[in-house]
Amino acid sequence: MSLVLFGPPGAGKGTQSDLMLGKTKMMHMSTGNLFRDAIKNKTPLGVEAQSYVDAGKLVPDSVVIGLVREFLEKNKVVDFIFDGFPRTMAQAEALENQIKEVGAQPIAKALFLEVPHNVLMERLGGRRVCKNCGAVYHAKLSPPKKEGVCDKCGGEVYQRKDDAPDAIETRLEAYEKSTAPLKEYYQKKGLFISIDGVGGSTDVFERIRPFLKN
Ligand code: AP5
Repeated sequence: MSLVLFGPPGAGKGTQSDLMLGKTKMMHMSTGNLFRDAIKNKTPLGVEAQSYVDAGKLVPDSVVIGLVREFLEKNKVVDFIFDGFPRTMAQAEALENQIKEVGAQPIAKALFLEVPHNVLMERLGGRRVCKNCGAVYHAKLSPPKKEGVCDKCGGEVYQRKDDAPDAIETRLEAYEKSTAPLKEYYQKKGLFISIDGVGGSTDVFERIRPFLKN
């Protein structure tokens, strides 16, 4: 079975994906991480995506859908956790077709992380990320032991460009316009599960755990 993990920016998708990966053999696919890697490595995809990602705008569907197809074809896995994809109706429809084409497992549930606006703002404003391994911290809520240094790999911990106030606003607008309608899409398919995303990250994870495949 495959799972979709979706929700507004800062809802905790990356944080929960990390916890999920400790408990399941499913493969994690985050389009945000794929774009950040491509930007870091200055690949043609990274060059194309950078201005969208830095400004907090959605990368065009054709680019994202092509990227996901490549990922699914390359990784011969059947059970996926899709994090941050799909984000538009066109992406949701493309994902269903691609899953069939590559022989991956269909989406069993679409888990929606429900988090109020004030909590999102606090999380996004304080988020810090390791440049090297991608570990996620929060300046106040879960800082690294030594400021600016990753606990896991010693890499540099920095603030993402799209966590600047203007870009946060753009991302929240893009979410409301393009991604929030997916709630209804998955409700109609009987796949929608709302998860309360407020509370400590391990508490939130305990709410997700029953839906994981071991
Ligand atoms: P992406 O990286 O997917 O960004 P996002 O959806 O905005 O999500 P975030 O990474 O900001 O938040 P998150 O929900 O993962 O929260 P996190 O766990 O980090 O995408 C980036 C960009 O790429 C997009 O803006 C777009 O340009 C492009 N893109 C990606 N996919 C695309 C697509 N499909 N189509 C088009 N464009 C696409 O947590 C946030 C903070 O809160 C952290 O500091 C964390 O420590 C803290 N925190 C998390 N959970 C808790 C908790 N329970 N308690 C306390 N603190 C917590």
